[in-house]
This record gives sequence, structure tokens and C-alpha cells, in this order.
Amino acid sequence: MDESRLSTEPALPQHVAVIMDGNGRWANARGLPRTLGHRQGAEAVRRCIAGAVEMGIPYLTLYGFSSENWRRPMTEVEDLMGLLRRYLQSELAELHEQGIRLRVIGERDRLPGDIARLIDDAEVRTCDNARLNLIIALSYGSRQEIAATARRLAEEAAAGRLDPSLIDEELFTEGLLTAGIPDPDLLIRTSGEQRLSNFLLWQAAYSELVFVDKLWPDFEEADLMAAVEEYLRRDRRYGAAAESQ
Ligand code: IPE
Ligand code: IPE
Ligand code: MG
Repeated sequence: MDESRLSTEPALPQHVAVIMDGNGRWANARGLPRTLGHRQGAEAVRRCIAGAVEMGIPYLTLYGFSSENWRRPMTEVEDLMGLLRRYLQSELAELHEQGIRLRVIGERDRLPGDIARLIDDAEVRTCDNARLNLIIALSYGSRQEIAATARRLAEEAAAGRLDPSLIDEELFTEGLLTAGIPDPDLLIRTSGEQRLSNFLLWQAAYSELVFVDKLWPDFEEADLMAAVEEYLRRDRRYGAAAESQ
């Protein structure tokens, strides 16, 4: 075997981020209420987490609810919050047992108080786990996150505690909700839509994007593996010249 080829073999993505889209269309196609699509979506979440654990991917971020999703009909928002509440109550012990560290990014103060408390507790309980870092984005909006970070830095500067000339990419990154989490290497969106919908705009600057036609409730471990295989075939250049062929 050619050893030089081995040494340049691309590494597994350290961080995979997923825009879990298509629950509503999955239900519509079956003449079912959207809620049932979301419920099936929760099963796909389990499969995706299992796949990440199996492949040894250290960071997995799942986009569960955007800041803009509050615009949906109240009944759907309530259904989604109910599902989230039940998910946190029923899955936490299992996640903890599997060595998964759970973190939630987003506008926590917009979530129902009891859910915010469940999240606080889950984060504390699982904070020493290291097998998989599971980050769930809830009431998350990347522009809101960036604006909040800019506001905090401006407040620090105005109070004389921060020299504005020290604000650079690194300092800004440390001010984001994802501080300490590596940027996503691979970003997957299901349901055939090809947009970011306000997800990790800063962090995904150099992410490889993979769009999957399947609707989220149909997503299986094999689909995660196929997306990772596609990622491994990509040539990440970060602005540098392409390697000569
Ligand atoms: C993704 O599925 C879940 C959330 C955004 C909460 P959708 O509910 O967006 O499903 P579609 O896109 O309408 O099919
Ligand atoms: C993005 O999906 C948010 C989540 C998957 C949680 P949407 O369904 O809300 O996005 P748009 O409205 O199609 O852009
Ligand atoms: Mg959608």
C-alpha cells in the first residue's frame, strides 16, 4: 500500500451539524397531522445520535427549533414544546448512561420555564461526559447570537473594560453560544431544501454542506454515514490553491 496516501487520508469530521427539516411534509404526505411528523422526527434524532456515537464523532449539533419557528401556529409550537419536554424527561437518563454531554444553545429565556430548568439540570448532570458532545439548538438564531455577542462586547468596551482593538475573530468566537465548541466540519440539511435558515452562520464559514433529499423522519444511521463519506471525498481548501492533480 502507498504509505504517502495513507498519511493524507481525511479525518472523520469532529463536528457534524444537522438541520433536521421535513417533519411537516412527512406527515402531510401521509395525511397525518404535523405533530406526528415531529414525533417521528424524534425517532430520527435517536438514530442520528446512535450513528454519531457509533462512528466516534465527538460533536453533534442538532437544529431543533429556530428563533423564527415561534411564528408558527400556537398549536404547533405547543406540540413541539410538549415533545421537547417529554424528550428531555425520558431520554436524559439514557443519554447520561451512554456518556453523552448535552448542551443547548439558543434563547433559553424564550422557552417555557420548566423546560429551561430541565435543560439547566441536564447540562449540569452530564457535564463530565465526554463520549459525545450533543448540542441541541432551541429557539436558536444565528443573527440574534451574533448581535448579542456584539452588544456584550460593545458594553464591555463602553465600560472601559475592553480595548476595542483587541476584538478579533478569536475573541468574537469566544463570545458566541458555541464558545469552546469547534466549528462544524460537516453541515447536513434534510428534505431537499438548500439553505441555512439562520443556523450557525459564523461557525459554518468553512463547513462542507451536504443536502439530503430524505425528509427528517426517514433519516437513518446509514444516511449519516453516507453524508460523512461524501464529506471525506471533499477537498477542503480554506482559500488556498488546489493541490496539483
Ligand atoms: C423541521 O420540520 C422541524 C422544525 C422546524 C421544528 P418542519 O416542521 O420544518 O417540516 P416541513 O419543512 O414543514 O416539512
Ligand atoms: C429550519 O427549518 C429550522 C429547523 C430545522 C429547526 P425551517 O423549516 O424552519 O426553515 P425554513 O423556514 O424552511 O427556511
Ligand atoms: Mg421546514
